[in-house]
Order: sequence, then structure tokens, then C-alpha cells
Amino acid sequence: MHPGPIDGARLLPTPEFAHPEAAVADPGFRRLQRALELTTGLDLGAYKERQMMRRITGFMSREGLRDLEQLADAVSRDAAVRQRLLDFLAINVTEFFRNPERYEELARIVLPELLQRFGRLRIWSAGCSNGAEPYSLAILVDELDPGSADRHQILGTDIDREALAEARKAVYTEDRLKEVSPVRRQRYFRPLPDGWWELVPEVRRYVRFTVHNLLRDPYPPGQHLILCRNVIIYFTETAKQEIFAKLAASLVPGGYLLVGSTETIFQPARYGLRAAAPFLYVRMEAG
Ligand SMILES: C[S@@+](CC[C@H](N)C(=O)[O-])C[C@H]1O[C@@H](n2cnc3c(N)ncnc32)[C@H](O)[C@@H]1O
Repeated sequence: MHPGPIDGARLLPTPEFAHPEAAVADPGFRRLQRALELTTGLDLGAYKERQMMRRITGFMSREGLRDLEQLADAVSRDAAVRQRLLDFLAINVTEFFRNPERYEELARIVLPELLQRFGRLRIWSAGCSNGAEPYSLAILVDELDPGSADRHQILGTDIDREALAEARKAVYTEDRLKEVSPVRRQRYFRPLPDGWWELVPEVRRYVRFTVHNLLRDPYPPGQHLILCRNVIIYFTETAKQEIFAKLAASLVPGGYLLVGSTETIFQPARYGLRAAAPFLYVRMEAG
């Protein structure tokens, strides 16, 4: 990941467009939007204007770019700038067992039920950042069905290639592990010098990573469990609805979708989903 602020809160001191609605009508913004869409597939139009413009202004001041025209030029010309902007917009913050109560529910109720019903599981962590989420799932699956990496598939996807490169390395700093119990740490992680921790190969084997843009790419079908958490908060209402519909269609009947703690799905029935617990939905059986 690019060294520098990726935490939204730290971007606040940078100048802001007083009226993001006006900024997005700026011809420079249109050029930037086209350049990004062509080169990365990212559609800025699907992101909430105010948050996105705040991040873009933060990025411009960090890179010493004067206006949106300059940024559009830099993005068209320079792959490194493009990647840095993507990192900056994406906000990759994550950790193992983020919101532990949700993982307890998965371990106690959802995964045992799915294992019993389907035997072999396909699990998808959509917007997985540096891999902490799919690896947390791999730990749960391994605890319930030890040494079963050949039986179950866990897919981690993200739009951000750098985050996925980190995920494949599977080496983490202490702060990503604060929700990992001592027993799990002992069993699934090896200490490295300078406070880093490496995930053991037995857990890494469960997870495969690939680049995927939730706004553009086809969704993998036949999933038994999908986690899509803290990703769609950045999207417009229209984009969110499209994503929920496609995520629901990717589930097998009886499969579960877990979303983030600010991402409640209103009227889940219109996507063929039923609320099973807070932020957890189950795909209804056909008919
Ligand atoms: C805050 S992280 C969430 C990580 C993890 N799901 C969690 O809750 O801890 C958001 C991730 O969404 C990814 N993302 C943003 N837009 C995306 C898109 N259009 N398609 C796929 N991933 C996207 C970002 O790259 C980032 O890694």
C-alpha cells in the first residue's frame, strides 16, 4: 500500500470543494472521470459526491496538483499516480475479526448450518482489502472443519491490486490482530521480527485472491456465504441497489449475505433476501 494517509479522518485538514455538486460539473472532473473509467474501470459517478471530492482534494494537495485538469492529465499519463489515487479513494482500512460479534454469529450459527447442509462451501469476501476478512473466515472454517482447504473455496476480491498483493503476502502488523484471541494467534500466526505476524500456510491455502470491480465485473455464482462489508458505504443509492441485487443473485437459495454495520438493506425481499439477524440476510428459496 502506498505510504501516506489512507484514513479518511486524516484527510480533513486539506482544502475542500465548498460545493461538490459544482465540482463534479467541472470539465476537469469529467476528464478525470473518463480517464479513470478507461484505465481502471472505476466509475466515480457511482460514489457519493461529498466524500469522494474530499478525498480527491486531499489527494491533489498531497501530490501538489493545482486543479482537476492537472489531476486528469496525471491520471491519463502516469500509472503510478493512478494507482496512488485508487489507493487513496479506496480506503483500505480493515483488520482480522472486525466486529467480532458478527464472526461469533458466523462461527456459532451460520457456518455450522451451511457445512451441514452443503458440505463443500464457496465463500466470497467482496472488497477484501488486504485479506484480513477472508483469512478470518478461513480460520473459522478451519476450526469447524480442520484441514479442509481442499474442500472449501474462499474467494477474496478487491478493485485495488496493491491491497491484493498485500493479501497474498499475508504478513500483518500487530494492530490488525487486536481482535485475534491468544489461542488463535498461537495456532494460526507466526511472529516475525519488528512486530509483524505471518499467517500460517494451512490457512492461506483456503483463500484465492483476484481483482474484481463490484460496479463492472460479472459476479461469481453459487456462493454459500458472501461478506461485503464497509465497501458500499462509499456508493450512491442507485449503485448500492444494483450491488445488493447482484450479490443476492450470486447466492444459492439458503445462502447468507453479511453486510457492514452501517449498510442495512431496506426491503430485502425485493432482492429475494430475508433478514436473519442484524446485517445478515439469507437468500430465500425459490417459489
Ligand atoms: C474499508 S475496506 C473493507 C475491507 C473489509 N471488507 C472489511 O470490512 O474490513 C473497503 C474496500 O473496498 C474496496 N472497493 C472500493 N470500491 C470497490 C469496487 N468498486 N469494487 C471492489 N472493491 C472496491 C477498496 O479497495 C477497499 O479495499
